[in-house]
Amino acid sequence: MAKDPRILVWDGALRLFHWLTAFMVLAMWWTAENGVMDWHKRLGILLLGLLTFRLVWGVFGSRTARFSSWQIGPGAIAAYLKGLRSGQHRPTFGHNPVGTLSVIAMLLALCTQVGTGLFSVDVDGLESGPLAALVSFETGRVAAEVHEISFNVLLALVALHIAAIATYLVFFKDNLVRPMVTGRRAQADFEAEGEGLDHSKLSWPHLAIAIAVAAGAMWAVLRIGG
Ligand code: HEM
Ligand code: HEM
Repeated sequence: MAKDPRILVWDGALRLFHWLTAFMVLAMWWTAENGVMDWHKRLGILLLGLLTFRLVWGVFGSRTARFSSWQIGPGAIAAYLKGLRSGQHRPTFGHNPVGTLSVIAMLLALCTQVGTGLFSVDVDGLESGPLAALVSFETGRVAAEVHEISFNVLLALVALHIAAIATYLVFFKDNLVRPMVTGRRAQADFEAEGEGLDHSKLSWPHLAIAIAVAAGAMWAVLRIGG
C-alpha cells in the first residue's frame, strides 16, 4: 500500500489532455460562431495532436488511461448500476463502467469532429479544412454537414458529462473533479486496498512515442495542407 493516504488515480498527461481538450472545444466553438476561421483551423490542428496523443496514450499510458483496462461488459455495467440503485456508491479506481461509455462516446465524437473538419468545405467553397483539396467539393460538403451534426452531438455529450459529474457531487457526495485536477484521491475511498499509479513507473519512452506520433500527425496535415 502506498505510504501516502492519497493515491494517484489519473496521470499528469491524461489530466493535461483533459483540461486542454475542454478549453480547446470551447475555443473551437467560439471561433466558429464568430467566424474567426483562421484560428478555428490552427487550433483544430492542435486538437488533432491532442486527440492523437490520447489515442496512443490509451495503448501505452498508465493503468487508468489504458483502453484495455476499461470495464464495459454487460456484467460490469449491471453490477455497477445495481450498486448505485441500492445507494451503496463506491468510487471506481479509474472510470466507472457507465462513465466509460460516455468517455468513449465523447472521444468518438471528438474524432469525428476533427476528422470531418479537416475535409470540410463551406457552401461557397471559401472556407475549407486543410485537407479539403484531397477530396471533391461534394465530399467536402458532406464532411461539413457531418461536422455540423457531430458538433450538436458533442455538445449534448458534454452537457450530459457535466450533469453526470454534478449528480455524483450532489447525490453521492463524490467530488470527481478534484482528482481530475490533482490526480489523487483518498486510498480509503476505495473498497479494495490497492496500489495507486506511480509516476516514477510511467514509461518515459512511451510518453515520448505518444508525443512524437501526435507531432507527426500535425506535421503531416500542415505539410499536405500547406
Ligand atoms: C468541452 C468540455 C469537456 C470535454 C470535451 C470533456 C471530455 C472528457 C473526456 C474525454 C474524459 C475522459 C478522460 C480520458 O480518459 O481521456 C473526461 C473525464 C472527466 N471530465 Fe471532462 N470534459 C469536458 C469538460 C469537463 C468539465 C467542465 C469538468 C468539471 C466540471 C469535467 C470533469 C471531468 C471529470 C471529473 C472526469 C473524470 C470522470 C471520472 O472520474 O471517470 N470535464 N472528460
Ligand atoms: C472540437 C472541434 C471542433 C468544433 C467544436 C468545431 C465546430 C465548428 C462549427 C460549430 C462550425 C460551423 C458549422 C456551420 O454552422 O456551418 C464549424 C465549421 C468549420 N470547421 Fe470546425 N469544429 C471543430 C474542429 C475543426 C477542425 C479540426 C477543423 C480543421 C482543421 C475544422 C474546420 C472547419 C471548417 C473548414 C468549417 C467551415 C465549414 C462550413 O462552413 O460548412 N473544424 N466548426
